[in-house]
Amino acid sequence: MENEFLIQTEDLVKIYPMGDHSLVALDHVNLTFKKGEFAGLVGPSGSGKTTLLNIVGSLDTPTEGSALVLGEKVEHLSHKKSAELRNKHIGFIFQTFNLLPVYTVYENVEFPLLLLHMSPADRQKLVMDALEWVGLADRAKSKPSQLSGGQSQRVAIARAIVKKPEIVLADEPTANLDAENSHHILQTMERLNRTLQTTFVFSTHDQKVIQYLRRKITLLDGKVDKDELIDTKRN
Ligand SMILES: Nc1ncnc2c1ncn2[C@@H]1O[C@H](COP(=O)(O)OP(=O)(O)O)[C@@H](O)[C@H]1O
Ligand SMILES: [Mg+2]
Repeated sequence: MENEFLIQTEDLVKIYPMGDHSLVALDHVNLTFKKGEFAGLVGPSGSGKTTLLNIVGSLDTPTEGSALVLGEKVEHLSHKKSAELRNKHIGFIFQTFNLLPVYTVYENVEFPLLLLHMSPADRQKLVMDALEWVGLADRAKSKPSQLSGGQSQRVAIARAIVKKPEIVLADEPTANLDAENSHHILQTMERLNRTLQTTFVFSTHDQKVIQYLRRKITLLDGKVDKDELIDTKRN
């Protein structure tokens, strides 16, 4: 790719019309992310974190400005192209895990691969690798209801990473977890970031996970307030 940035936003603006006034959720956001970054969006509730992740993930479009993701301007993509970008190249992790309850852990992780044309044997290898990475290979046959919150989020990480996407976007991945599980989730994400060189961009306002960030982007009222590289000498 000619562009060194996996993600580049240019004067990104998102405005929600609210009857007689409008709400500015993103206000000229200019950010770039390179391959292999482990970056956190922090900021209070309502600061625009989810809106930004949704636009970068091609789940939403900007009102003005541009988001270039893997060489594609998301605001110009057709539905088909934007689905293709998500299906092939972007993994998502949500605050509420979003596992399909009637399917097993194995089937939940396999799900994104069904959208790609792949042999059953290749799928099986990728699913089992992903479950190994998150330490849940022995729970492949369980249903989500038989798992703890921490285990459920690890399954969601396996599902996000199974196709080895370039980018994983995670919206408050630890918001529903206790301290121990929050640390475990961040350690798992960090290990996958290092071993697979996957770019992680996630939002959080959880103090417990801020220590794991290598780049901390603070949003305030839809603007980038600070963008700091963090020296991770803690280990
Ligand atoms: N679909 C929507 N319609 C109207 N306003 C919205 C919508 N989604 C988000 N907002 C508003 O945009 C602002 C940013 O929201 P959001 O991106 O969810 O922030 P955060 O994730 O940091 O809490 C908030 O003021 C929120 O109320
Ligand atoms: Mg949010």
